[in-house]
Amino acid sequence: MRTLNMARGPSSDEPMTATDSLSAASTTARMSSRRRSRPHCVQTGCRAPSGSSPRWLWALRTHTIPTVSELIDIRYLAPSDIELLNKIDRSEVIDTLYSVQDHELVARTVDVDVPDWSREGDGEHSVRQLVEHWRPIAEGGATLLGAYSGDEFLGLALVVDQLEPGMAWLGLLHVSRPHRRRGVALALWTAAAEIGRSAGSTSMYVSATPSGSAVGFYLGRGCVLADPPNPDLLADEPEDIHFVCPIG
Ligand SMILES: CC(C)(COP(=O)(O)OP(=O)(O)OC[C@H]1O[C@@H](n2cnc3c(N)ncnc32)[C@H](O)[C@@H]1OP(=O)(O)O)[C@@H](O)C(=O)NCCC(=O)NCCS
Repeated sequence: MRTLNMARGPSSDEPMTATDSLSAASTTARMSSRRRSRPHCVQTGCRAPSGSSPRWLWALRTHTIPTVSELIDIRYLAPSDIELLNKIDRSEVIDTLYSVQDHELVARTVDVDVPDWSREGDGEHSVRQLVEHWRPIAEGGATLLGAYSGDEFLGLALVVDQLEPGMAWLGLLHVSRPHRRRGVALALWTAAAEIGRSAGSTSMYVSATPSGSAVGFYLGRGCVLADPPNPDLLADEPEDIHFVCPIG
């Protein structure tokens, strides 16, 4: 991992201006009326590697992330904005769950109603636990991205530009239930991939919720099963689907 230059980013409400070209900037984020649902890296989001260091680069150069569409703004957030997890409705009805058997993805039909995170206490599946888990990672140099439509918050991503040389890591990707299937995750992904690429990474590691929605999303990004998975991330989320995705 390279030496990190810690620089602070703009605040959450500061819109990005486009000075760099995002290779996928032509991607049109679709704000259609299609609605389906679903959420984890299952309840908690994707886990940080054990003993993960806070040395990750603040990918916060003055370079900025362009708006991916006219309707979805992707903004750099401050580490304290990890609290925006409070604004995400993570609930979802899952109809497909994946597992990995003999190095292959296996789907099974289910009917699982995943509730929203608890807003009370700091126990398992609470927002408080989630925020406290991810706060040091956000403060340690990961980049937090927010998706907005005007002032409306739609979703959140956290990216580490180098999990290991040449490989970034998407630690969090959550789109609030009312805003799914409108291209919000795609807009966040596009921005996260640009951050990874800017740091010289050609791939992105994801420990994905084993749901049909998350796996469907990552397969659509060209992700393949990590072989081998990152041992720390696998130990933290053994039920997740561990992907490596091309971003180069
Ligand atoms: C997975 C998730 C991030 C997708 O967000 P989204 O904004 O709805 O995704 P997008 O609208 O950008 O979808 C892009 C593509 O992903 C795939 N996809 C998204 N949701 C899907 C679903 N429910 N089933 C199958 N494929 C899906 C599709 O290919 C879709 O393209 P299309 O709409 O043209 O068919 C969202 O469902 C979510 O936040 N889930 C809860 C948290 C979670 O599981 N996060 C992943 C953690 S690793």
